Amino acid sequence: MNRIQHDSQGETEDGNIAQSHTPDLTENLVYASRSERANADKPPSRSNPLGAVAASRYPGAKSRREMVKGILAQDADLVAGNFGSVYYKPATVGGVDLKLEPLQPSIGTVVHGIDLATDLNNPEMVSFLRELWLERRVIMFRNQGHLSREQMVAFAQHFGEVGSRYGEREHVPNSPHDLSHPIDVPGFPDMLVLTSDEKVPGAASNWHSDATWQQRPPMASVLMCREAPPIGGDTCFCDCYSMWEGLPKETKKRVEHLAAVHVGAVIHQMDGKTPVAKHPVARTHPETGRTTLYVQQGFVRGLAEEHGIPEDEERALLLEMKHQEGRLEYTCRFRWEAGSIAMWDNRAVLHSASADFWPHHRLMERLTILDHDVSRRTPFYAPQPQ
Ligand SMILES: [Fe+2]
Repeated sequence: MNRIQHDSQGETEDGNIAQSHTPDLTENLVYASRSERANADKPPSRSNPLGAVAASRYPGAKSRREMVKGILAQDADLVAGNFGSVYYKPATVGGVDLKLEPLQPSIGTVVHGIDLATDLNNPEMVSFLRELWLERRVIMFRNQGHLSREQMVAFAQHFGEVGSRYGEREHVPNSPHDLSHPIDVPGFPDMLVLTSDEKVPGAASNWHSDATWQQRPPMASVLMCREAPPIGGDTCFCDCYSMWEGLPKETKKRVEHLAAVHVGAVIHQMDGKTPVAKHPVARTHPETGRTTLYVQQGFVRGLAEEHGIPEDEERALLLEMKHQEGRLEYTCRFRWEAGSIAMWDNRAVLHSASADFWPHHRLMERLTILDHDVSRRTPFYAPQPQ
């Protein structure tokens, strides 16, 4: 198959990703033990969408090897190209000509024509991007593979304080079950590495906002793609303002002053303790003042006990809110290339990876950003008088 060249550092001859970007997974004990398990030459589990999609693409495979070969053969003729035209808005900021490509009417804009390593030295550009980000919920950039990890951190610092892998430092998971933790990037303890390959498949394919089980969840997340599959593995984003607007009036009235319980997974434990946080169901965005639906079924396990809501009503309310998740009209979908970056507002969007790209490789690096203004970090609901 055609391997994608991801940046000026490129790949080494044997197909490994250039060292400067890649944690050495082969020397990682946890990763190695997972690989060992994976060496059983079985197709990936269908309980993970990666396995289900693979089984639908190549049914009846007796071994993983056969399946990998079959699927890679289907994708072997793919070449990169451009077709058709896209609509964009031209904008000049601080002498830099940008092209702003909206992905969907209410959400997502790709900013073309910028170099994130140099163009943010101009404060005018930083405030332009922040405004655009608040308006569009998530902004994306292409051709930024030349950014070193230092430069990625510097980019994030223009918008807030870089957090730990899961945001605030008061709860930093140390669960032995967190298989991503040991994938350390020397010198960058705050960087979370998300990786998937044919032996160890993985993708966060459920609607969620990052680390909402924290008392003060991270304001934003930045994701850099270092290695992309030639097809699949997109990240989808869902607009939480539309989710709120889309709820029936009576439901809004019923839930607007309720709180929901967000519970972390076992991999988010610290010293054996699972993190739990209570947050308002209707959340006021601290910068735009508008209301979002702040319930995502990824981490929400129920409504706060003190409301005394009977179980069947609770279930019905949660289901109604769940129906707002991922509606096509509220979402945009971003196709990754090596060197693409997305920065999203965790207060205004949910996201989900599309687990459809196995056995291709995907390697992502993530940073979280905390609000500079500490008073805005805790979710709250303060409706504006109509
Ligand atoms: Fe996430």
